[in-house]
Amino acid sequence: MDRIKIIGGSPLHGRIRIGGAKNAALPLMTATLLTDETLTLSNLPHLQDIATLLHLLQQHGTEVSLQNNGDDGHEGRSVSLRTPRIVSTTAPYDLVRKMRASVLVLGPLLAREGHARVSLPGGCAIGPRPVNLHIEGLEALGARIEIDNGYIVAEAPNGLKGGEVHFPQVSVGATENILMAACLADGTTVIRNAAREPEISDLGACLIAMGARIEGLGSETITVTGVSRLHGAAHAILPDRIETGTYAMAAAITGGDILLTHTDPGLLTATLDAMRSAGCEIAENAQERTIRVRRQNGPLQGTDVMTQVYPGYPTDMQAQFMALMSIAEGASMITESIFENRFMHVPELARMGANITVHGASALVRGVGSLTGAPVMATDLRASVSLVLAGLAAEGETIVNRVYHLDRGYERLEEKLAACGARISRLPD
Ligand code: UD1
Repeated sequence: MDRIKIIGGSPLHGRIRIGGAKNAALPLMTATLLTDETLTLSNLPHLQDIATLLHLLQQHGTEVSLQNNGDDGHEGRSVSLRTPRIVSTTAPYDLVRKMRASVLVLGPLLAREGHARVSLPGGCAIGPRPVNLHIEGLEALGARIEIDNGYIVAEAPNGLKGGEVHFPQVSVGATENILMAACLADGTTVIRNAAREPEISDLGACLIAMGARIEGLGSETITVTGVSRLHGAAHAILPDRIETGTYAMAAAITGGDILLTHTDPGLLTATLDAMRSAGCEIAENAQERTIRVRRQNGPLQGTDVMTQVYPGYPTDMQAQFMALMSIAEGASMITESIFENRFMHVPELARMGANITVHGASALVRGVGSLTGAPVMATDLRASVSLVLAGLAAEGETIVNRVYHLDRGYERLEEKLAACGARISRLPD
């Protein structure tokens, strides 16, 4: 397994180009299963999770054509997906267990074919993450669903029927699954307490371009009027707000100055607000799609955050902010309200000298003057990147193990950081 070596202590200066959003690309790709025509997605990030989903789609019958754009092939790739026929309605355990988002094939397969058999994704490092809301939502559209030998077996032999889906709890994935399924259901579906994440609006915009009839995107109530078929479309994937926020924090934690380009500042208001409260200087330019982040006037200040559903502070930016707060002046309380068990980075940050105490869903971070490098590892994507951030600020050498987590969600991480002056390299196995 590759490792990442960082010699910390250099303030980062430069520009970083932000890629397309992983969490938008995944549901958008599964939308190919809803039509026999070609769906072309541009600004596709180059990530392990994308490769995993392409593999799953291919075994359902999707033809895949990838195009690299730009001189270095990295100026946003494009992919054309065409699924003339569904050759298998089973999403097998071996593929689904690699990535939980694979469960997003359930709604589209069921809507198009009238049946689907999708492995339960199982537990993951950040909590039990059940799929009951996906199942209950599809049942409200008339599906009969059973769990059989670890598989979700869903049947709707006469097609799905529009219905009322009232989620008791906000779920990004369940909202996406029901939204896609409802596009081909007979009649009108109303999704209440829908997630409002920008990635859902991006998926909705693409479905509308494919011929779907959807209202209320970005609000708590989404109404979908089913159509008998969807057609092909071309869609540009929105920028990755979590990648943007992560590099913004790289500038902040090292006391540097970074211009983030090809992004959308409007997607990360809560994150940028928290960073401003902590003493970062942030200049947003919506027209030029850039954000400049600087922290050159003294230390960071302890700032409290609580993760919430969008537009609140994102859970996917919790670990990175904790790394930042571990060198702030004063204390900060970081509360995780979306996932149980999302503090696995705490003991690893502590090994680098951070002073953090966890009480239930809250972590009290008492800022220390500086961190020291150490060998560390993490069990999920955002926890891993928080250790990279800590390593950039720490004195001495940090080795981050289990780099495959980073490859799931960050494209050319070492290259992007090294271009801003970070002393970071990948040590092959
Ligand atoms: C998505 C994101 C992930 C992000 C999360 C929350 C993708 C591919 N992943 O994950 O990066 O951290 O949103 O912003 O977009 N829940 C249930 N039953 C369900 C579904 C969810 O109880 O059927 C619970 C989960 O355990 C969790 C909460 O609801 O506690 C939110 O999960 P959800 O919004 O569904 O997250 P994902 O879609 O899996």
